[in-house]
Amino acid sequence: MTDTFVAAIDQGTTSSRCIIFDRGGAIVAVDQREHRQIFPKPGWVEHDATEIWVKTQAVVAGALAKAGLRPDRLSALGITNQRETTVLWDRATGKPVHNAIVWQDTRTAALCTRLGGVVGQNRFRETTGLPLASYFSGPKAAWLLENVPGLRTRAENGEIAFGTIDSWLIWNLTGGPDGGVHVTDVTNASRTLLMDLVTLKWDPAILSAMDLPEAILPEIRSSSEVYGTAVGQLAGVPVASALGDQQAALFGQTCYGVGDAKNTYGTGSFLLLNTGNRPVQSRSGLLTTMGYQLGGQRPVYCLEGAIAITGALVQWCRDQLGIIAAAEEIEPLAESVEDNGGAYIVPAFSGLFAPYWRSDARGIITGLTRYVTKGHLARAVLEATSWQTREVVDAMYQDSGVKITSLKVDGGMTANGLLMQHQADVLDVPVIRPAITETTCLGAAYAAGLATGVWQDLDELRAHWKHDREWTPRMEAGVREREYRNWRKAVQRSFGWLE
Ligand code: G3P
Repeated sequence: MTDTFVAAIDQGTTSSRCIIFDRGGAIVAVDQREHRQIFPKPGWVEHDATEIWVKTQAVVAGALAKAGLRPDRLSALGITNQRETTVLWDRATGKPVHNAIVWQDTRTAALCTRLGGVVGQNRFRETTGLPLASYFSGPKAAWLLENVPGLRTRAENGEIAFGTIDSWLIWNLTGGPDGGVHVTDVTNASRTLLMDLVTLKWDPAILSAMDLPEAILPEIRSSSEVYGTAVGQLAGVPVASALGDQQAALFGQTCYGVGDAKNTYGTGSFLLLNTGNRPVQSRSGLLTTMGYQLGGQRPVYCLEGAIAITGALVQWCRDQLGIIAAAEEIEPLAESVEDNGGAYIVPAFSGLFAPYWRSDARGIITGLTRYVTKGHLARAVLEATSWQTREVVDAMYQDSGVKITSLKVDGGMTANGLLMQHQADVLDVPVIRPAITETTCLGAAYAAGLATGVWQDLDELRAHWKHDREWTPRMEAGVREREYRNWRKAVQRSFGWLE
């Protein structure tokens, strides 16, 4: 059975891609397209869900063409996606009722404070594993129902569907208004602030607190099972997995054992630690979240350190500041100087996520003198990523007592050797990159292939994982501690900007 292929769609924050894998887990073809980022007001971030669906179809066609394959050669299709981004659409027409509200969008900060009431940010934490923060989808759906005229009545009449991007794509892939299946998986559902982490069902008390009608909700399913069969360009292909992108990366990195961890460097960075079959509540600002669930098996839980802005800071330097013309230029620019020259950048563009959860934080650059050049700023940009990661690693230790001895990494920024070295230096553990860094798509493909018999079990997948490069720490302890103190001082100064 060497000619079996599995396709995965990764619908991310800035682009959609489709990768086709062979049975050995090797990449056969990749296609990718960016979509528009819409910033209607400071702190607001939107996507056009129709554009996302159109570009998704285009990358599927592109990958098939590059692979020279007809769709009937695909054994399964897996879906992975930017999490929390919220779409409400009309079930009859298939049209979104509003732009999708992106996970980075902070418009629901006041709504979240209101929902917290006298209990505060942790009102739903025990049930959902999450603090009340603008990051998550439930309050985004509540905001839409409150603000789009006439929408609440239509939602209560069953005319409107709610979904994160996985639901939106699966519904469209399986027929849209003509019989599309309206489902989500446990990992995506665990980011809504609406799902009970133990029963894996929508929580009626939270739905009522947020005034969300049940009629809009998708059915919650496992991460690896056949939800339906695609129509259109992929007619006949089983749609057989859905995982939030960070959970997909965990799965693709074969972090199947308790204590296994990975960090993915994309728009933001997300460090997930497998904690096994029971949720571990965090006292240190981490999220308790689903790792994956394979069919009817027991679910696997994670602790997650979610960092909103890492790679997006490099994009901001390119697109808003213009100090580089392409993202790759950040590394040589940073290498043109010895150190950060005393400058620190805290990229709290969407407030600060883990471990702080401060929606009142805003980005700052501090430590400036006339000595500082754009080379020093480029270093501060990269260092912001590794320091934010250090903070979530520390929180993970406090919560779980697990001291990581090495860190598996993936995502676009792992091509940046200077950053990876700094990451190893500030964590004081080796940083290890696998041969296939497209772990997000790989994880979705693995889950889809497990559901359809392409792969038999987790051991078979583990055997695919290959080491590519390792960075070992070489920073002096004294320097590390001094720099970390400075970083934390800078973080404190980013608080309190939003009245
Ligand atoms: O929670 C947000 C995360 O899923 C976004 O990931 O890779 O699209 O930045 P990415």
